[in-house]
Amino acid sequence: MKRTNYAGNITEEYLNQTVTVKGWVAKRRNLGGLIFIDLRDREGIVQIVVNPDTAATEVAEAADKARNEFVLEVTGQVVERASKNDKIKTGAIEIEATSIEILSTSKTTPFEIKDDVEALDDTRMKYRYLDLRRPEMLNNLRMRHATTHAIREYLDGAGFIDVETPFLNRSTPEGARDYLVPSRVNKGEFYALPQSPQLMKQLLMTAGLDRYYQIVKCFRDEDLRGDRQPEFTQVDLETSFLGEEEIQDLTEGLIAKVMKEVKGIDVTLPFPRMTWDDAMNFYGSDKPDTRFDLLLTDLSELAKTVDFKVFQEAEVVKAIVVKNAADKYSRKAIDKLTEQAKQNGAKGLAWVKFEKGEFTGGVSKFLAPSTDSFVSNLKLEENDLVLFVADTLDVANAALGALRLTVGKQQGLIDFRKFNFLWVIDWPMFEWSDEEERYMSAHHPFTLPTKESQAFLSADGHSKSSELKKVRAHAYDIVLNGYELGGGSLRINTRELQEEMLHALGFDLADANEQFGFLLEALDYGFPPHGGLAIGLDRFVMLLAGKDNIREVIAFPKNNKATDPMTQAPSPVAEKQLEELSIHLANKD
Ligand code: AMO
Repeated sequence: MKRTNYAGNITEEYLNQTVTVKGWVAKRRNLGGLIFIDLRDREGIVQIVVNPDTAATEVAEAADKARNEFVLEVTGQVVERASKNDKIKTGAIEIEATSIEILSTSKTTPFEIKDDVEALDDTRMKYRYLDLRRPEMLNNLRMRHATTHAIREYLDGAGFIDVETPFLNRSTPEGARDYLVPSRVNKGEFYALPQSPQLMKQLLMTAGLDRYYQIVKCFRDEDLRGDRQPEFTQVDLETSFLGEEEIQDLTEGLIAKVMKEVKGIDVTLPFPRMTWDDAMNFYGSDKPDTRFDLLLTDLSELAKTVDFKVFQEAEVVKAIVVKNAADKYSRKAIDKLTEQAKQNGAKGLAWVKFEKGEFTGGVSKFLAPSTDSFVSNLKLEENDLVLFVADTLDVANAALGALRLTVGKQQGLIDFRKFNFLWVIDWPMFEWSDEEERYMSAHHPFTLPTKESQAFLSADGHSKSSELKKVRAHAYDIVLNGYELGGGSLRINTRELQEEMLHALGFDLADANEQFGFLLEALDYGFPPHGGLAIGLDRFVMLLAGKDNIREVIAFPKNNKATDPMTQAPSPVAEKQLEELSIHLANKD
């Protein structure tokens, strides 16, 4: 029999009609002599009813044999239900089966196919096809589809041309480690999977495409987190001849269309802009969650006047004030916050409570003589808790920025229905890396520095106090609810400046030519001014779906060891495959 309808779409409209549906048994109950089967397909669930006393023998037998996750083909008449279920679309009707065919049987599944499943993450990933059967997961994938559909429509309407770029590439420096692919034909040589199509899209601009986009897989071998996967998807754009704000406007239009079509939300444009300096000073983060305040205050000057060595000797002293919550923070709760501050590099966390007009607990004995100054600086009121970090500026920002998020959640300050988009602009070109002991690109080496700050490019990148930190970039990040949703910039379009930039980053010219001589050469042949951005599609859909891990919106993700519990990738390969590649494993353990 041909299917006439999706199970989940049958409503009163079909009363008295004969329908054929095909799907999975979500539930089977035997109640007072009647057998009820909830049949599920991608559109939802419909109730099938069989009366073994009156039904044909084969129908009664099939209904009797059916178990959860069997695949059935059911034909029957749509009738009104005695007890209606207004929670589901099909809740007013049921199907009186006149034929049931078992198309496939199923073992008991390792976890129940329902929302709010309690299975371990790795079990869910091992049986991902079962996990994806859960309506919640199916909805996430459909939301992802709706998002990419809206994006394609928008970009197509704005004149963007979709171009595919290679996966087998030369390595380009985006900041993470590459995934390498050995070449069989060119023994001993490797392709790198793209960390992003950055250079290719720039070359498409000099090719004259003017507006390029691609919804594209990118690969980065980096430590995994809830919002990072080794392979992820970018909505990648590049344009010629546009300024920063024009690129931001185009991006806002794209986001507004997605918000409207996927969530039915009208966002207000333009999105607010915040300078990178303000983001760091007030939120301690380059991706501030602006759904709540709890801002960082710089108390360095006042702190120097206090008879407390830790405060006097620190580069900066910064604080956050947790309003009207001193009584809610026990010693133990504060110890936990201290632990978190330490994980973010702080040596410790100083704190005081403001109760009945005076400081109590923590470092109160040091601050007591200056109570009035602190009270007026921090606008303290009864029952406030103050958390201080005295350290370098970077550590104070990182530690208090992280505590701000924890305390914001603890205090219920975050309105989870909000979608707060924000542009972070005026980025520094470089950021100091303790690991590399030099300045590195805050975005990537192809970002255009502002004209006024280009003079500092000749400074030496090996000292933290180097003037390189004064170089500003034409770069912008789009932030949503404290997540870096996307980032982009205007790019360098002259060879001279590109070489100067590479020099500032410590490349010698021979190395630079070896790695991306093709780009430097292209800069000699009429390279237009250009710029663009890339949005992390997985992160965007995750936030639209109200999840906190991008795995929830990726069909077949990796776990946090970068492995796939279902296929067991990565895996050893046959000796012969290695031989063909001339690869000898030094140590197989
Ligand atoms: P960037 O490196 O900032 O920029 O990446 C753009 C966006 O991609 C997402 N993203 C990730 N998502 C999931 N897992 C990951 N491992 C991961 N890494 C990045 C983030 C991020 O904002 N070529 C430039 C863009 C440009 O300048 O046009 C680039 O790749 O949401």
